[in-house]
Amino acid sequence: MSNILIIDDEPGIRTVLSDIIRDENHQVFTGGDGFEGLGILKTESIDLVILDVWLPNMGGIDVLKEIKKEYPSIEVIMISGHANIDIAVKAVKLGAYDFLEKPLSLDKIINLIKNALKMEELKKENANLKNAVFMEDEMIGSSDSMQAIWTRIKQSAPTDAKILITGDNGTGKELIAREIHKNSNRSKGPFIEVNCAAIPDTLIESELFGHEKGAFTSAVARRKGKFEMAHGGTLFLDEIADMSLNAQAKVLRAIQELRFERIGSEQSITVDTRLITATNKDIAAEVKAGRFREDLFYRLNVVPIHSPSLKERSGDIEELVQYFMNKFKSYNGTSKKIISREGLDILLNYNWPGNIRELKNFVERINIMTDENEISVETVKYYIQEDTKTSTIEENEYTNLRLNEAKDKFEKQFLVQKLKENSYNISKAAEIMGIYPSNLHGKIKKFGIEIIK
Ligand SMILES: Nc1ncnc2c1ncn2[C@@H]1O[C@H](COP(=O)(O)OP(=O)(O)OP(=O)(O)O)[C@@H](O)[C@H]1O
Ligand SMILES: [Mg+2]
Repeated sequence: MSNILIIDDEPGIRTVLSDIIRDENHQVFTGGDGFEGLGILKTESIDLVILDVWLPNMGGIDVLKEIKKEYPSIEVIMISGHANIDIAVKAVKLGAYDFLEKPLSLDKIINLIKNALKMEELKKENANLKNAVFMEDEMIGSSDSMQAIWTRIKQSAPTDAKILITGDNGTGKELIAREIHKNSNRSKGPFIEVNCAAIPDTLIESELFGHEKGAFTSAVARRKGKFEMAHGGTLFLDEIADMSLNAQAKVLRAIQELRFERIGSEQSITVDTRLITATNKDIAAEVKAGRFREDLFYRLNVVPIHSPSLKERSGDIEELVQYFMNKFKSYNGTSKKIISREGLDILLNYNWPGNIRELKNFVERINIMTDENEISVETVKYYIQEDTKTSTIEENEYTNLRLNEAKDKFEKQFLVQKLKENSYNISKAAEIMGIYPSNLHGKIKKFGIEIIK
């Protein structure tokens, strides 16, 4: 039984539809115009809306837009007269499930409702699945090094001490930072993350400190920086060692005083923010090499936490595998798969260059790709080898090239391949690659590609 809302200003239509829908054992709600209908949506848990295209006060299209904005998973079936079928078509483009044309046909109504409800159910299921899969991970592991990390987290979280987390890619640095926040007195405040490697040097100051309207050409409105957004909470500066020396100088003062100015403003802002930083680089070596400011390093490194590679805590592998197997089981129905003992032994002895992220990806893939309930050692080997292949990609023909050289090399190989596939027919190859023949001619000349006729 579902809850179905009919929005139509003609009492006759409302009655006819209500009777049909009740006969199908659904509960019916009715509204005489858009406002009344939207009011019902606020208070009742509606599964499906049947909406007239032409309504007094607020048009059907506007009501549809509002429904799709506020309740995206609810399906909407439009009703239209012959005269306004173009509006019904527009409605479908805006996300309505389908439309019914007046005069209403009983079979059609029942069928459409059935299908729309099914669609909605699928959508909801899908959203639940996604939530379960993308939900933040718990921190798993009981090895000595994991326990040492937990102890550090518990000790340092309630203080405001700055924490520097180091460790290889995929070892869980971000997860540790989130745990510190969760276990601190600031847990109700925001956790704001900045990936310093992803922000161009010219924008980092504005990203961190914000700017006033008109401070520079693209500053069309006043904008808060991440330091301000993290007020009352935690600011997590990830990949800190990738910040340029220039940017480091600018953040040094803000980091030590928690005081700064928005770009284009003289007024100092003081914030109450806890700072956690992380890097996968050997930051002490970066200091020695003159790429990271020593004074900044000492300011940040009050409480160091090192997240060891998975190889160094292989005692956690089995527990992690079980945890992720459980997490990803939903992909293939509810029955949980297991990995055979021999398969597990392979995983325990593998060296996991991508660490926990790689292990998580491996478990996800194996859950999607195999139907075996007990995953065999052959299957494990097969998918682990695939991982090995991709993780050694660093050592290949592109290894010592600059970006331009690598691009050229790839482009030439690609062109030769496409030309060969098309028996050196230049117009055809160009069309397939989506470029002009004249352009392809130019490239053939540039790369000295031999045309075999
Ligand atoms: N102890 C753990 N238990 C369960 N899942 C974990 C654990 N550590 C990390 N993960 C998961 O592994 C993935 C990688 O972790 P995270 O992003 O924290 O690593 P990272 O060290 O920040 O990596 P990078 O240096 O590449 O940014 C995430 O999906 C995270 O949830
Ligand atoms: Mg990270």
